[in-house]
Amino acid sequence: MEQIDDYICRYKNYNFVLTVGASAEHIDSLETFHVRDSDIFVVTYPKSGTVWTQQIVILICELDGGLNDYPNNMEQMPWLEYPEGRPGYSLRPSPRLFNSHLSPALMPPELKEKKGKIIYVMRNPKDTVVSFYHFSQICAELENPKTFGDTLERYLEGNVLAGCWFDHIRVWNAARDQYNILFLTYEEMVLDLRAAVIKICSFLGKNLSEAAIKEVVHKSSFKTMKEDRKANYRFAPKERLSGDFLRKGKIGDWKNVFTVAQSERFDQIFQEQMADMDLKFIWDSAEQKEEP
Ligand code: PPS
Repeated sequence: MEQIDDYICRYKNYNFVLTVGASAEHIDSLETFHVRDSDIFVVTYPKSGTVWTQQIVILICELDGGLNDYPNNMEQMPWLEYPEGRPGYSLRPSPRLFNSHLSPALMPPELKEKKGKIIYVMRNPKDTVVSFYHFSQICAELENPKTFGDTLERYLEGNVLAGCWFDHIRVWNAARDQYNILFLTYEEMVLDLRAAVIKICSFLGKNLSEAAIKEVVHKSSFKTMKEDRKANYRFAPKERLSGDFLRKGKIGDWKNVFTVAQSERFDQIFQEQMADMDLKFIWDSAEQKEEP
């Protein structure tokens, strides 16, 4: 592992957080990780809605007939790449649920045999960098940025957790035919959470009742999750996370942070990098409905 700064190390062209137990041995071991058909992986670039999708998947599985009980969402659905001293993942009962920010090259190869299911969630990159900037201020495992401009530079250089947003989206988009995968966007979840929940249920083959779907939607709304100790990561020690995990949950908060010059420069890079990709992102809060 090559150390990039006090917080991040690079291994196999991917940036890991140093302090949460990423090791070359563990990452290498994923090459022989046996995937079960019932495994579910939520994969994202950081700050794209991981913990939100985690909550939805946990609720769906619970209502579908139960999950083994764990003390919190992090234990229920741990990070594939950061075992943090948890006993071997091969010992976990099915269905196993995992989060990951990894690129396809580092994911267990058996996933390409279309075993297991992946939900890949994307969010417009201006909002992910703003979310990351704020999160870096409360998360002890990330460098506390001096200014938003500093974060933006590092982000565009790919010198942040998980590397460059453009690369992550590109490689996952290019690999989508190789996996049993559902692509979702954070913005579609914001704009119609119920439709997103139904889409996830259908992808996972879970036939929930109308009442159960309503419950999932209610318990994964921003308002409910913000007050939910498990979902808002209030169980995390203060010295690791000094504020709420759920911050604003909006589309277009970047407009409050980017300068006009930063935004124009970003747009230009976006056009260059994404020109050959047929992906649409929602940047504006105009379409965002208020939660009831
Ligand atoms: S991480 O650290 O990569 O796991 O972060 P991640 O969970 O991917 O992203 C955190 C952002 O998702 C927002 N969030 C939500 N938005 C709307 N509704 C719900 N229910 C919800 N839950 C989490 C969270 O607030 C972070 O976005 P920002 O813009 O910072 O508010």
